[in-house]
Amino acid sequence: MELELNMNGVIKSLDVAPNESLLTVLRREGYFSVKHGCESGECGACTVLVDGLPRPSCVTLAAQAGGCALTTVESLGNAHKLHPLQEAFIDTGAIQCGFCTPGMLLSAFALLKRNTSPNEEEVREALSGNLCRCTGYVKPVQAVLRAAAVMRGEKITPLSLPVLEEHVQSWEPGRVPQEPHKGGKSVPAGAATMVEARPANGLSIVGNAQRKVDAVKLVTGKPVFTDDIELRDMLYAHILTSPHAHAVIREIDVTEARALSGVHAVLTYKDVLRVPYTSAGQSWPEPGPHDQYALDNRVRFVGDRVAVVAAETPELVEQALRLIVVDYEVLPSLLDPRLATSSQAPRLHPEEDAYGIHDAAHNIAAYVRADLGDVERGFGQADLVVEGEYVVPQVQQVPIENHVAITYWDEDERLVVRSSTTVPYHVRRIIAPLIGLPPRRIRVIVPRVGGDFGVKQDVLIEDLCALLTIATNRPVRLEFTRAEEFSSRARHAQIIRMKTGVKRDGTLVANSMMVLANTGAYGMHALSASRNTGLQTLPLYPCPNLRFEAQVVYTNQPPAGAFRGYGAPQGFFALESHLDEIARQLGMDALELRRKNWLKVGDKLPLARELGEGKEQVIKSCGLPQCLQIVEEKVQWREKRGKGGTGRFRRGVGVALAMHGPAAPGQDMAGASLKLNEDGSFNLLVGTVDSGTGSDTLLAQIVAEVLGVRVEDIIVHAADTDVTPFASSSSIHASAGAAKQVAEQVREQLLEVAGQMCKINPMQLTLKDRVIVAPNGQNVTVSQVALHALYVENQRQIMATASWIGQQTSPAFAVQGAEVEVDTETGVVRVIKAVSAVEAGRVLHPLIAEGQIEGGIAQALGYGISEELVYDSHGGLLTANLSDYRLLSAPDMPAMETYSVETEDPSGPFGAKDSMEISVDGMAPAVANALADALGVRVRQIPLTPERVLRALRAQAQTQTER
Ligand code: FES
Ligand code: FES
Repeated sequence: MELELNMNGVIKSLDVAPNESLLTVLRREGYFSVKHGCESGECGACTVLVDGLPRPSCVTLAAQAGGCALTTVESLGNAHKLHPLQEAFIDTGAIQCGFCTPGMLLSAFALLKRNTSPNEEEVREALSGNLCRCTGYVKPVQAVLRAAAVMRGEKITPLSLPVLEEHVQSWEPGRVPQEPHKGGKSVPAGAATMVEARPANGLSIVGNAQRKVDAVKLVTGKPVFTDDIELRDMLYAHILTSPHAHAVIREIDVTEARALSGVHAVLTYKDVLRVPYTSAGQSWPEPGPHDQYALDNRVRFVGDRVAVVAAETPELVEQALRLIVVDYEVLPSLLDPRLATSSQAPRLHPEEDAYGIHDAAHNIAAYVRADLGDVERGFGQADLVVEGEYVVPQVQQVPIENHVAITYWDEDERLVVRSSTTVPYHVRRIIAPLIGLPPRRIRVIVPRVGGDFGVKQDVLIEDLCALLTIATNRPVRLEFTRAEEFSSRARHAQIIRMKTGVKRDGTLVANSMMVLANTGAYGMHALSASRNTGLQTLPLYPCPNLRFEAQVVYTNQPPAGAFRGYGAPQGFFALESHLDEIARQLGMDALELRRKNWLKVGDKLPLARELGEGKEQVIKSCGLPQCLQIVEEKVQWREKRGKGGTGRFRRGVGVALAMHGPAAPGQDMAGASLKLNEDGSFNLLVGTVDSGTGSDTLLAQIVAEVLGVRVEDIIVHAADTDVTPFASSSSIHASAGAAKQVAEQVREQLLEVAGQMCKINPMQLTLKDRVIVAPNGQNVTVSQVALHALYVENQRQIMATASWIGQQTSPAFAVQGAEVEVDTETGVVRVIKAVSAVEAGRVLHPLIAEGQIEGGIAQALGYGISEELVYDSHGGLLTANLSDYRLLSAPDMPAMETYSVETEDPSGPFGAKDSMEISVDGMAPAVANALADALGVRVRQIPLTPERVLRALRAQAQTQTER
């Protein structure tokens, strides 16, 4: 049908199908700022203004928009003249991955049109339809309030970084660890008392909140994500998935599907190579079992791959999928991990060619155990032994951008994979044998990624998309729906038994953690994530007798993968809940118990050695005492702890500690290369993907700092396997080290050429503000040096490459606190306040650091109170959409305060540690501890749903009656 659309003030006449959504039509017409995040109007990524009102275009028919005025972010402002809202989103650090940003901007724009002076509550309400998984909504709300003030013509104080507590605590052999820091000052992030930037140890760029290098393109809705491209002759693809939790495919008939006009390929297990592999995007050799096949004749969870189709249109693809006839032999399914090793349990991996499975006959994907001292003897020496079992759920990463890949042949007959992955090098290595091409004929390009949180570190769709391009010789696009995304990966559900022996004064003498982890149908992260559950947590409280044991079992549920925290949030929920229980039984203050036992500077980490991390690590910096002091004060521990009251609504406060080191010290490697251009700019090439972590900006900052130039002089190009150096993970720690090293090499070359130009010893030159100066005042600019090097003397390209591998553990530390209110009649838990103090060495960029903490808190709050993947008795997922899964929205968030304690770690670039994971570790146990404080009864299973709270209250009442 013919449709006239008023697009950003321009009338367009379009040919659309009657059932086409407005989202489809807008993207087809090149309005790529309008994003796809779901199909149900729940995420807000597709928001457009229809006659000035925000509407989800995915559930609006294009035909309904005829005659209406449509507004997208493309019309708000551009790089030369940004709208105040766009400016404010950049200035406040409200953009992380940027995938939700266009939708948020439009909702905010509509609000400010009708209300020029909104309060915070009204802003949160206006953004309630726009889900963001990165920011915790703190900075977007600040941005809207700030833009409103600008638009009212008010004078706005310049934003700059908050005061950070400066406390350098480096380790030297034999030095006595310091006592808790008593002084110092700190202010909440985003508080009104922000002050001017301060130089940190003579640094001028590192440590300052520089404008993010990618902010303008994200805020103007530029086509920067994987799917923001329309290739000529591109086919659409979709996967046929299993309706059964466990079955063997007796026969599969694709005759009719293949015969359908417009269908170009239908692939089943009969059409692809049978190569056992693991989809974990980890370094070679991957530690997990190789127990998957691109397509198999056995399915192991509802949602497992059965077949894949490529056709001219998405509608034809769906029609073809319906024509595939599958004869399943349905097998008994295993849905309870506690039953996995029983002799009655069905065996999930009987295939003979799988390898690396710990014990396939008993469904054990992986097993790990480490012992220090003699834990049984330790229990015998204890005055009190406390035991507890803690249960943590499967939760999903929920990036707002679903997995998407586009594959095509280039002019040299090489296969290009354009993907939303964050591990391009691992994708290339892993898919090569599956698609029958050598890595040299595969190029993986990663544009911007709309959120990761670990789920895009697995190879989920690239192999099938590539196989379809090989089969059809056409570009192919394959994207998950939101429901498929929910069934793709999860954080490992675990049942954790803690047993701890303590002396009467609170000294830990023996500690044991036994983990039963559910890896679902495949074991890609079974070993490494579950090993992390003990490795990242137990060393927080050194103890002479320690035992950690993890058994990771298969079930007929979607596979567990990498999720921010990588095993640690599970362990900290158990450990930090358990410590509160011990303190209660000892009649001791819960914080004093922690202070008595916690890790200090100079302590060793023998468990890391026992768990296979090579040499023993030593703690060289630790800000725990300062963090605890801040959180204790901010949650008003002394005033509020134990004073929850006895009425219907009771309040409590809780605290939890956390530490988090790099997942793989000695293995996390990245390279960087850098070259100087004749105008004094530099091309920095790195393999690390910026999925909202700010890595592009942080790396540019590091290079600019070393070279004495500005961040805008550094042009960052990331993640293209043909062009950029290798990065083993999406962590920025290794890339930061490589960037610093490569910049130092280039600096040396710059000074050498400048020395020749000035006829002076390069050692006497200084490099600052793009100028190299000799002691006698003679000077040359960086661009003059570049011109001289390229065209005059020696004729050389100033450039270098470097690799960096983090050898030290150097964990970050955090203390997180919560105040909750619980309704004892309904069981509803409301988090009133969430406080977080983090020490991660040198803070490279305060706004990015704060944003990471705030986003992590939001994810951890969801883990604690609302998020859970729930299955029916046949293994079907009941929470496969954003409403049932209960992702937190802007109005759901409590008051959040974040603080940074700064140290300088000798092993990290500029003293920085890896800080991306730590903020998700402690908030769930802090909330559980606050709930226990409010009620006097402990709920040992998260999320803390009303049902679980009421059940605990009923059990408490019954116990009291029986007494
Ligand atoms: Fe439309 Fe999610 S609300 S894509
Ligand atoms: Fe909101 Fe990433 S910035 S989803």
